Amino acid sequence: MPRTNRLNSLVATALSRRDFLTATTALAASGLIGGCSSATTSAANRSVVGGPQPFTFKSVPPSLADSVVVADGYTATPFFLHGDPVSDGPRWKFNAANSSDEAMQQCGQMNDGMWFFPLPVGSTRSDHGLLVMNHEYPRVAQLFADGDKDMSAEKVRKMHATVGLSVLEVILEPSGWKIVRPSKYARRVHGLTPARLGGPAAGSSLMRSALDPSGFAAMGTMANCGIGTTPWGTYLTCEENFHDYFATQGGPINATQARYLLRAKPIYKHPDFDVRHDASKHPNEFNKCGWVVEVDPFDPLWVPAKRTALGRCAHESAHHAVARDGRLVIYTGDDARFEYVYKFVSRDRWNRENRAANRDLLDHGTLYVARFDEAGKGRWIALVQGQNGLTADNGFPTQAEVVTFARIAGDTVGATKCDRPEWIAVEPKSGEVYAAFTGNRERGRPGKEGVNPANPRNNNLFGHIVRWREADGDAAAVNFDWDVFVSCGQPDHADTALRGNLKGDLFTNPDTLTFDYQGRLWACTDTAEVPEVELRFRGNDSVIAIDRVTGESRRFLVGPVGAELAGLTFSPDNRSAWVNVQHPMQGWPNTVADGKPRTATLVIRKNDGGVIGS
Ligand code: FEO
Ligand code: CA
Ligand code: CA
Ligand code: CA
Repeated sequence: MPRTNRLNSLVATALSRRDFLTATTALAASGLIGGCSSATTSAANRSVVGGPQPFTFKSVPPSLADSVVVADGYTATPFFLHGDPVSDGPRWKFNAANSSDEAMQQCGQMNDGMWFFPLPVGSTRSDHGLLVMNHEYPRVAQLFADGDKDMSAEKVRKMHATVGLSVLEVILEPSGWKIVRPSKYARRVHGLTPARLGGPAAGSSLMRSALDPSGFAAMGTMANCGIGTTPWGTYLTCEENFHDYFATQGGPINATQARYLLRAKPIYKHPDFDVRHDASKHPNEFNKCGWVVEVDPFDPLWVPAKRTALGRCAHESAHHAVARDGRLVIYTGDDARFEYVYKFVSRDRWNRENRAANRDLLDHGTLYVARFDEAGKGRWIALVQGQNGLTADNGFPTQAEVVTFARIAGDTVGATKCDRPEWIAVEPKSGEVYAAFTGNRERGRPGKEGVNPANPRNNNLFGHIVRWREADGDAAAVNFDWDVFVSCGQPDHADTALRGNLKGDLFTNPDTLTFDYQGRLWACTDTAEVPEVELRFRGNDSVIAIDRVTGESRRFLVGPVGAELAGLTFSPDNRSAWVNVQHPMQGWPNTVADGKPRTATLVIRKNDGGVIGS
């Protein structure tokens, strides 16, 4: 049997084993796990999930130091740094001296979304697993000894190597967590890894090009920011700011390209050295980015699959819920100012007994976009060709146009323009959905849109968290009730609206938002857009615990200078956590002075081995 099929059947056997289900139910009933990635919002599961424990750690004061500060009684240790090998490949070289071939076997840059998958697949083990993380974008000053001087094909190839994702096998030993090297699971997926397209846009005229007449192939993945998972244990990596990699090289830009922020001149130099990125020559290659991409971390031969049914935008995250009837629901935000929140509902139920049967589940379903109305009411509007004005006359002759130009479809149906929707997390017990709206300093400016019910502040420097509850508690519902959970702010701000309503420790610009296995809410902040002067009151970017009931916030960890924190993930026993330190700007964590601080993944443990947050 081919390797993939053999693996799938092994996995299906593991997932269907009665003892696994029994163990999961017992753990859930004990409150040890609340958010096992399976079926967390189904009515059946709601009854067995224990309530969240209160946060009892002592909060950390704001810090402006170039170091990591974590709550008393905890240790946060650099675990996996840019340039470290994923397996037994080449090691990181001083002054960014690794070649592109070497970089393809090493940790990329800008570690972002991340997830811990227990080994074996389907188990709830907390001492052995696969740690999978995104690498968002290249930072040339830290990637090359001479920065952006003398760009070349080799340099662009190394930039391709530094985005995508890493799969690490990790194990807990008496001395702490270790990366298993070599590992049969260890893998890099990057900007040159062959990928495929699935769903309504695959094979369409929008995807065919001289480089790929079939329209089913995609070369690699890039701009990998937030993540999601599926109940069958696959990883969803979200392509966010993909437009930075393409350009028309001075040529004209049409309306759909402009809506997707295509530039005449790119941020990076890819179009000069890799013709796929030159939109004047191969415009449809641009259409092959901006998708949620599914990767099976348990199968090193899996070809990354771009799931076009979920729509094309600057995807930030893709967390799931399970509808009452067993269909899969995926929430995803489009992280740009004045963009939308989307929801995908699969056509078919996910198959608990046969993992392989879910292989292309995400290729069929209905895409919706959110409209937040007055009085806390909201509606999901279907983005389906022929409905809601999405007709050929309006530029949508097929569903391929609808999903590829989902932003324009959202414009057409009157969706709500939001303040940079980033991570969207589903509370495992209630099914309530929490969305981080990072901020939008342009709201209300001349020529820009003003406030709306769910985005109620002009010059929204600090962001807020919106939450909603689907009608009848069913994740597939088309109506929902919503409210603003917290408004971040600064207590003495001249604009009283920007003082916010935080209870507890100050934070701004929530980005990563996730629930741990006890059903407790955590946020990581990304304050990059806020003027530095505002740092004085809440310090460097932080990991914040938020009590879902009281709204009280508590600072758990502070990162080094200039770094955002991202991708917080937990082991099922909630006794280990990992978080990414993205774009440190000064010395941390280097022990050698080459002026090239390295993105790093931290592992966090309580010194007494206790539950994170206690
Ligand atoms: Fe890559 Fe929206 O953060
Ligand atoms: Ca983010
Ligand atoms: Ca961000
Ligand atoms: Ca970032």
